[in-house]
Amino acid sequence: MSVTAAGYLRIEASDTAAWMEFGTSVLGLMEASREDTQGARFLRMDDHPFRFMIEPGDGDRLLAAGLEFRSEADWQAACDALSGAGHTVAPGSSEEAARRCVTAFASVQDPSGNTIELYHGRELDYIPLNSAAGVPGFVTSYQQTGDLGFGHLVLPAPETEATIAFYTDLLGLGITDTLYPPGMEGVQITFMHANNPRQHSLALFNGPHPAGVVHMMVEVGSMDEVGKAMDRVKQAGLPYLATLGRHVNDNMCSFYVLAPGGIAVEYGYDGLLIDWENHVPTVSTEGDLWGHEYHFPGVND
Ligand SMILES: [Fe+2]
Repeated sequence: MSVTAAGYLRIEASDTAAWMEFGTSVLGLMEASREDTQGARFLRMDDHPFRFMIEPGDGDRLLAAGLEFRSEADWQAACDALSGAGHTVAPGSSEEAARRCVTAFASVQDPSGNTIELYHGRELDYIPLNSAAGVPGFVTSYQQTGDLGFGHLVLPAPETEATIAFYTDLLGLGITDTLYPPGMEGVQITFMHANNPRQHSLALFNGPHPAGVVHMMVEVGSMDEVGKAMDRVKQAGLPYLATLGRHVNDNMCSFYVLAPGGIAVEYGYDGLLIDWENHVPTVSTEGDLWGHEYHFPGVND
C-alpha cells in the first residue's frame, strides 16, 4: 500500500497569470492546453498532463498534494487503513477525478491539517515538453521506467509525531533521515521516501507555515540548467530565498526562489537516488555541504 511518488500539486494563486509567467519563463515548465471550468491553469514537465494545477483564489498557498499509488488494490488498501485509523477519507467524484487526470482519488487531511489526495491510474498524454525557457527536460523518471514524481515537497507539521506516523504507518512512506539544522533551536525536518529511488519525496517541518508548504522542488538534468535558471530569476527580478548550495542528505545542488505570492521553489540538480533495500535511516546535524545562505523576507533580508 506504499505511496509510489509525489505526483502533482494543487496551488491556489491570487494572480494565476503571474504564477504561470513564473512557471513558464523562470522555471521553464510548459503550460498545458487544458480547459477548466473553475479557471485553473496547468503546468507540465513530462508525459503527465500536468504536475501543477494553478487555481485562482484569494490566497497563495498549497491546496493539496497528490500522492500516487501503483494499483487500485494498493490505493484501496491505503484508503481502508486510513478509515480504519479514524481518518475521514472523502472519495472524489468522477468529474473531480477527470479534472486531475486520474482514474480515482480520495482526499484526506493529515494530523497537521495538510490536504492529501491519494490517487491511482494517472492518464498520460505523452505530449513532449516544449519549454519556452529552453529547458530540455526535468528529472521525473528513473532509467526510462520508474516514476520519480514531480520532485519533492516539504509540508508543515506542527503535530509532528502524529503526522510522521500518519505517513509512515498508514501510507507506507519510509524515513530516510532526520535533520536538526545547526543554529535553529528546536527545528526538526523529517525526510521520507516513497516507493521510488528519490532520496525524499516528502519531508515534514515541525512547525506551521502560512503557505501550507515550506517548499517544493523540481529537478533538472545538468548544473548548466540550474545556472541558466538563476540567470532567469535575476532577469525577472525575483527574490532568492537561498543562494546556490548543496544539501548534505539528498546531495541536491540547488537554489531557492520565491514564486509570486510567496511559495518557495527549490530548483536543483544531482539529487541522490537510493536503493532502499539496504538503506539505514540517519540523523543529520548539518543541512548543507556548502552554500544555501537563506534570506527570509522581513526577517534577515
Ligand atoms: Fe528540498
